[in-house]
Amino acid sequence: MTQREVRFPDEFLWGTSTSAYQIEGGGTNTDWSRYEVAEGTHCVEPCGPACDSWNRYEEDLDLIVELGLNSFRLSVEWSRIEPQQGVIDHEAIAHYRAVLEACHARSILPVVTLHHFTLPLWVADVGGFENPDIAAWMGAYAKVVGESLGSLIGIACTVNEPNIVALMGYLIGAFPPAQSDWLRFSNVNTAMRACHVAMRDALRATPGDYPIGMPLSMNEYEALPGGEDLVESIRHEMEDEYLRSVGDDDYLGVQCYTKIVIGPDGRIAHPEGELTEMGYLFWPQSVEYTLRRAASMVSIPIIMTENGIGTDDDEQRIRYLTGALAGLRNVLDDDIDVRGYFQWSLLDNFEWTFGYRPKFGIVAVDRSTFARTPKPSAQWYAEATKNFTTSND
Ligand code: BGC
Repeated sequence: MTQREVRFPDEFLWGTSTSAYQIEGGGTNTDWSRYEVAEGTHCVEPCGPACDSWNRYEEDLDLIVELGLNSFRLSVEWSRIEPQQGVIDHEAIAHYRAVLEACHARSILPVVTLHHFTLPLWVADVGGFENPDIAAWMGAYAKVVGESLGSLIGIACTVNEPNIVALMGYLIGAFPPAQSDWLRFSNVNTAMRACHVAMRDALRATPGDYPIGMPLSMNEYEALPGGEDLVESIRHEMEDEYLRSVGDDDYLGVQCYTKIVIGPDGRIAHPEGELTEMGYLFWPQSVEYTLRRAASMVSIPIIMTENGIGTDDDEQRIRYLTGALAGLRNVLDDDIDVRGYFQWSLLDNFEWTFGYRPKFGIVAVDRSTFARTPKPSAQWYAEATKNFTTSND
């Protein structure tokens, strides 16, 4: 399909990233809500009310304003908008209209993800990403979103980390549907690319001139002796096949957290070095690494749509973000076309199988009152973004 005229924001985007299921609460019509309470899964607790952002979104947006950020990445939830196949919930759409209008009222550019990990039960029950109709269903859903919310979207993300959905759901077996099979993993990656194209083209066919792209999970990899071939095959499935397919998109979203160390038998679970709450290597250098790698393979603008650290130690978060922004500085100084950076995450939220233990937020959330309390890292991030000059400034 021919590309439409696309308008990118003039300013460099500084934001934080979230997803509907992880902060809204009450998302009970999804594969995840069922998985969290099923026997024998890796889940430590159910999502439940999350951060109650369904009701407290204005408070969240006010925090963004206080921090002086100009954008916010959030997602809309397919299971709420289309709770059953072909049945559109107009109240859910009205809610998301109100959220997006509340962003604009505060001069916050909304970066809207259409699919962030969760599937409506009606989709999951008929094979999810392995159903041959999945791209058509996601395209139809994207058309509804484009028609009803398109005029309010600042930037659109189609499928969040399609490669992680495939990896965790079909190879590692830690996300629904908890399968572990290389061929299925690879087939789901192929299906994901078709879903992305169907959604992108459906959005392009509805009004609006906002950029549309896919947020891809990327990592720095280190091969220990004997692990080189495995790194190559993992990279091929997880990154290269995707990066080769996005040339017609308006931009690429890059999301990174760490460096993964691979030996002859697979990922090293506890690599040597400083580790985070997730057991990841503390590796802010991955920002520079992944941005450079992405830029070497695509010739469209890049937005870092997620980067951050799960930690109870806010000083460690500030150290991580310091390193991350230094890497961003280096790539911008080399004229790599990066248009924005989104820290994950605004709030301490539901971290999937790990529940509420990992703390990715620059704002703490009291689990009983939902009161929000900015951490020192929030103020640090506000200052750092203010003092960071980009070529757009
Ligand atoms: C996902 C988020 C998740 C974050 C931290 C990303 O892979 O998009 O949903 O919370 O990483 O693990």
